[in-house]
Amino acid sequence: MPHIIEMKNIGKVFETSDLQTHALRNINLVIESGEFVSVSGPSGCGKSTLLSIMGLLETASSGEYLLAGQRVDALSFDQSAELRNKHIGFIFQSFNLIESLNVFDNAALPLRYREPKMTAEQVKKIVLNCLDKVGLSHRLTHRPGELSGGQQQRVAIARALVTQPSILLIDEATGNLDSKSGDAVMSLIGELHQQGTTICMVTHDPRYADMAARQIKLFDGELLGSAQISRSNQTQFNGVA
Ligand SMILES: Nc1ncnc2c1ncn2[C@@H]1O[C@H](COP(=O)(O)OP(=O)(O)OP(=O)(O)O)[C@@H](O)[C@H]1O
Ligand SMILES: [Mg+2]
Repeated sequence: MPHIIEMKNIGKVFETSDLQTHALRNINLVIESGEFVSVSGPSGCGKSTLLSIMGLLETASSGEYLLAGQRVDALSFDQSAELRNKHIGFIFQSFNLIESLNVFDNAALPLRYREPKMTAEQVKKIVLNCLDKVGLSHRLTHRPGELSGGQQQRVAIARALVTQPSILLIDEATGNLDSKSGDAVMSLIGELHQQGTTICMVTHDPRYADMAARQIKLFDGELLGSAQISRSNQTQFNGVA
């Protein structure tokens, strides 16, 4: 089995009219299938940029990135989108739900996009299963505006799950949530990991970072080394929303 994520000497430079920003330098990182890795560090140190490169939303300026054993630098736009759709689920701080669509249709979106030939019955089965996992089967016809923040984030998680991604990339998932809803979302993320999903999660909250078996720290675009936490010491969250 290839590493799910392998970065060799990855660098990222953003060029604006008057400024060059070295967002990432010399990143060497391997994530194995089934791992739970947290990423933390000060604002502007490159966390979101790292996740964007991992998730094929950005390309690296230098170095080599392999996703599921496949070098991504030579891929066309379409091939890159296909690889992303096959492997990656994103969860962001802003839930990015579509206000005109109800809970079911929001969650179904990536599946309908990726599997246009799937029957309505098949889509329904998968989407209901994912909404059940996040505890929202009773809110199928609500619009995002009719849900709490925690519930909206759980719809976003169901939407990330419908395509059965091999890896979930999570960027400050609890940033817009009160602590109780944040704990409930993290508890759900912990369960997904238990069920085998690989997780790479940016968080400012040390309690949540402690849930990960490996904690990566970035500073000024560079990796500071990572701590391996023994399973028995990992924090558990049992919040209910
Ligand atoms: N599209 C862009 N164009 C130019 N510079 C960018 C761009 N995206 C990020 N940067 C710069 O790259 C650096 C890293 O940004 P990044 O968003 O990865 O930081 P971060 O660690 O996620 O910060 P935060 O904790 O505030 O979310 C910052 O200095 C930022 O200004
Ligand atoms: Mg960020």
